[in-house]
Amino acid sequence: MANGSSSSSSSLSSRRSLLKLLLPSSLVFIFGIISALTYQSILKPPPAKLYSSPITAPRIKLRDGRYLAYKEHGLPREKANHKIIFIHGSDCCRHDNVYSTLLSPDLVEELGVYMVSFDRPGYCESDPDPNRTPKSLVLDIEELADQLSLGSRFYVIGYSMGGQATWGCLKYIPHRLAGVTLVSPVVNYWWKNLPLNVSSEGFYMQPRRDQWWVRVAHYAPWLVYWWNTQKLFPGSSVANRDHGILSKPDKDVIMKLGSSRKPHVAEIRQQGIHETVNRDAIVGFGSWEFDPLELENPFLKKEGYVHLWQGDEDMLVPVTMQRYIASKLPWVQYHEVSGSGHFLHYGKGMVDDIVKTLLTTDAN
Ligand SMILES: *[C@@H]1O[C@H](CO)[C@@H](O)[C@H](O)[C@H]1NC(C)=O
Repeated sequence: MANGSSSSSSSLSSRRSLLKLLLPSSLVFIFGIISALTYQSILKPPPAKLYSSPITAPRIKLRDGRYLAYKEHGLPREKANHKIIFIHGSDCCRHDNVYSTLLSPDLVEELGVYMVSFDRPGYCESDPDPNRTPKSLVLDIEELADQLSLGSRFYVIGYSMGGQATWGCLKYIPHRLAGVTLVSPVVNYWWKNLPLNVSSEGFYMQPRRDQWWVRVAHYAPWLVYWWNTQKLFPGSSVANRDHGILSKPDKDVIMKLGSSRKPHVAEIRQQGIHETVNRDAIVGFGSWEFDPLELENPFLKKEGYVHLWQGDEDMLVPVTMQRYIASKLPWVQYHEVSGSGHFLHYGKGMVDDIVKTLLTTDAN
C-alpha cells in the first residue's frame, strides 16, 4: 500500500513535472506561431512597391546603390552665386519646392540663385532606405551636393519633417554649410534636453490621434505599419491626409491651393506608405544620437547664419517648443510670424523674405 501510493504519487508528480515542462514550452510555441503569423500578415510592412510611373527625373546613384531623384531650379549651377538644397516635408516630394516656385524671378537674377530639391528616400522617384537614420539622410544630401559639384559650401533650407534633417546637417556636416534656414521644423518630443514640462505641453497640444501616433512611432515602431493601415481607430492625421486639425490660416492655404498639387500627389506614395510617411515618423520621433539643443554655432566667424521661421498658429509643430529651442540657441536667428500656421511660406512675400534673409545676412 505504501509502495502503491508512493508509485502512484511518483507517477503523478512525474506527470505533473512533464506537464510543467510541456505546458509553458508548448504555450510559448503556439503563441510564437500565432504571433509570427500575425506579424507576417498584418504587422509586417510589405516591401516598398515598384515605381508605378516611369522614372522621369534625373537621379544620382548613392554610396549604397540607391538612386536619389532631384529637380533643379533657378539659374544654371555655373552661373549662380548661391546654391541652395531644399529638403521637403512629410508626404511631399521634389515638386513641392515653394522656395523656387514662389521666389520672384527678379530675386533669382539679383542674388544669383540656383536651387535643387530632391525626393527624400521612398518618395516619388527615389529608392526607399529602410535603414534610414537622422544621419543617413544628411550623407545623401552631401553626396547630392558633391555629385552636382555645388562646391565646398552650400545653403540648406529644410521644411517641417525636412527641418529635422536640417538639424542633422548642422550636426554632421557643419563644414559644408554656407547658411541654413529651418521653416516650421518638426520637434522630436524625445530630444533629451527638452524639459519635461515643455515637451509635454507641446505633446498634449496635438490631437489625441497624433499623440498616439507619435507614441507608437517612438515606443513601438514595429506596430507603425499596422497602426496606419487599420480602420478600427484613427491613425496619424498626416498619413490620413486629414486637414481637420489645421489652424484657420492653414485651411485657407489649402483652399487656395485647390488642385494645384494634383499632378504629382499620386506619385508621392507610389512606393507605399511605409517608406514614406511611416519611416519619417519612425526616424523623426525615434531616439536620436544627438540633440539639436546641444549644437554649437557652426559659423563662429559669422561666415553664415542659421535662421528658424515659425508661425504662431501652427497646429502641427507647437510654437511654444520652437520658442524654447530658440531661447536655448542664441546663435539661431528666430523669426516668428504671427497669424501664420505650418504653411507660413504661402503668405504674401514670405518666400522672398525667407530666401533673401538667408542669402543676404552672410559674408558674401
Ligand atoms: C517649465 O518649468 C520651468 C521651471 O520650473 C518654468 O520656468 C517654465 O516656465 C515652465 N515652462 C512651461 C512651458 O510650463
